[in-house]
Amino acid sequence: MAEFSLPKNSKIKKNGKVHKAPAEAKKIKNFKVYRYDPDAGENPRYDTFEIDLDSCGPMVLDALIKMKSEQDSSLTFRRSCREGICGSCSMNIDGKNGLACTTAIEDVKGDVTITPLPHMEVIKDLVPDFTHFYAQYASIKPWLQTVTPPPSGKERLQSPADREKLDGLYECILCACCSTSCPSYWWNSDKFLGPAILLQAYRWLADSRDEMTGERLDELEDPFRLYRCHTIMNCANVCPKGLNPAKAIAEIKKMEVERVL
Ligand code: SF4
Ligand code: SF4
Ligand code: FES
Repeated sequence: MAEFSLPKNSKIKKNGKVHKAPAEAKKIKNFKVYRYDPDAGENPRYDTFEIDLDSCGPMVLDALIKMKSEQDSSLTFRRSCREGICGSCSMNIDGKNGLACTTAIEDVKGDVTITPLPHMEVIKDLVPDFTHFYAQYASIKPWLQTVTPPPSGKERLQSPADREKLDGLYECILCACCSTSCPSYWWNSDKFLGPAILLQAYRWLADSRDEMTGERLDELEDPFRLYRCHTIMNCANVCPKGLNPAKAIAEIKKMEVERVL
């Protein structure tokens, strides 16, 4: 049987620093937060932050902001909108990918364990490297492509029925919660586009105004780029916007079949 051993400096130390809550705190919740700074040459570790819930907002992001402003300013994470719109604060909370700003602390029983999105290179602490993910996004040409001039000379109109076909697609905020929970993407992310990017690809295939459907399908017709999805459905289970990338992927496969019939 094959045996694997991790390089020494990749093993996570369970007991990192403990940041105590103020002595007068009455309602304390422990947060175990993944810490890693590749430049420091040290192993990753879990730091414990004791948070006084009586002086903290309700969301996991509120707790992270409190940790950073009151306990350890070197804690690094992304966030911007604080309302589930920008996709910056995606991370793994208590074993499930999600957005820190829309995950309520009270929904996590016991200690709250927070790690970066799985299977991505870590830049620092909770910040993964999205370079490859964004390059894959650029590869599907995520913009309206046309060859004919607009019929009215100015605008490309769309019927309400055609516009409705984009519902469940345009809402994607590219947080990567789905792709980084997909086992197929973990093993083949160098070639498989993964659920987020394929949902985006279908968003343009489904757009009645786009005139590059054939070219887009040619680009996707590949054993790895499209066909590594095995309908495991992790993607739909974790999407914080309630979208269903697996369904979008199935629609692309259907379009690939129908065009050769
Ligand atoms: S349904 Fe497909 S894309 Fe979604 S998690 Fe499963 S394999 Fe990945
Ligand atoms: S489909 Fe959902 S989980 Fe995936 S990137 Fe878009 S918003 Fe995030
Ligand atoms: S901060 Fe924008 S989605 Fe969470």
